[in-house]
Amino acid sequence: MAKMNINFSLPFVQKQTLAVGLDIGSHAVKVCEMHDSGDGLELISLGSALLPAGSVEDGELQDPEAVAEVIKSLVKNLNIKGKKVAISISGYSVIMKKVNLAVMTETELAEHIQTEAEQYIPFDIEEVYLDFQDLKTNSETEDRTDVMLVAAKKDVVDGYLDMLNIVGLKTVVVDVDAFALENSYEANYGSEGTILLADIGSSKMNINIISDGTSIFARDIMMGSRQLTEDIQARFGLSFDEAESLKLGSVAPEDKQEELEEIFGNICTQWIMEIKKAVDFYNSNYPDKPIEKMVLGGGGAKVKGLDQFFSEETGFPVELSAPFSHAIVDTEKIEPDYLGYISPEMAIAMGLATRIIPF
Ligand SMILES: Nc1ncnc2c1ncn2[C@@H]1O[C@H](COP(=O)(O)OP(=O)(O)OP(=O)(O)O)[C@@H](O)[C@H]1O
Ligand SMILES: [Mg+2]
Repeated sequence: MAKMNINFSLPFVQKQTLAVGLDIGSHAVKVCEMHDSGDGLELISLGSALLPAGSVEDGELQDPEAVAEVIKSLVKNLNIKGKKVAISISGYSVIMKKVNLAVMTETELAEHIQTEAEQYIPFDIEEVYLDFQDLKTNSETEDRTDVMLVAAKKDVVDGYLDMLNIVGLKTVVVDVDAFALENSYEANYGSEGTILLADIGSSKMNINIISDGTSIFARDIMMGSRQLTEDIQARFGLSFDEAESLKLGSVAPEDKQEELEEIFGNICTQWIMEIKKAVDFYNSNYPDKPIEKMVLGGGGAKVKGLDQFFSEETGFPVELSAPFSHAIVDTEKIEPDYLGYISPEMAIAMGLATRIIPF
């Protein structure tokens, strides 16, 4: 299980066990609250709210006040009691890098990682929060191990923390989207096997290939479902909202069907090309453990027929993410149809909601 925690200053008393998962995307904020009942994870509440266009871009807050307003009313409407949240970041402000280092103790690694990071990070080392996880890939006889190094720009992370403070929420975990995705998968299906996880959001796609509980390849690509809306908008001369409705099928395509199919075909081909690059990289480095399946999350994963198309292109099974498939759900409180509908884009929020509040 990936346990990235970029923000270290978290000193306070523990009241509840799990943090509230808060996934702040560029299109929508998703929130998820879970409870560890002892018999498994119980879903307490979940929901999402649209963000004003441009308020979050390239993984950075552009309009903190507007985002704060949306989160405030979402949390209030869902009656979320927890005040300690886990968030995640991705995109340009985060660097994920796997490095191969001599085996050392956690304390030695913490000291060494600073100098190691300087080689890989295109920002001033003083400007980033650093975190690492020893992936413990060494066998008994080997003296080198893989370490996942994560660096996140302080100003970007602090921007989120300050914004959430205004709404009365305390950020106790700062994770990375790709690892939150991994945690949501593993909470349901365990850590066995080699799986390609992808979250296709509005403006970015996170890819994480995991093998027996270890992230082998994690990358963010700046592509997402917003491309579809923009292309539809340009092709038919529509407003963004009109194009979005046409994309989601909430208005009839009328005589536009053929051109729409062409747009979907073009964009989905770009997506699969990026995924194939990840698969090729993985296969050439780890030929002994072939990828068994792909699990797709994010709103973009809901493009009709995308799973089948990806499956035909890659040759392995593709499923839509179902992050609550093993959770205890009170169907009187949470309507199954709504849960099914919203589940793919809740994958990251769910993964964040599995994080234990640190002391
Ligand atoms: N059925 C669908 N077909 C195509 N796209 C869809 C569908 N349903 C939702 N989307 C798109 O998914 C996107 C929202 O998904 P999600 O909530 O995962 O994005 P986000 O987390 O806000 O964005 P990002 O992570 O890229 O910053 C929107 O672009 C929306 O139009
Ligand atoms: Mg997202």
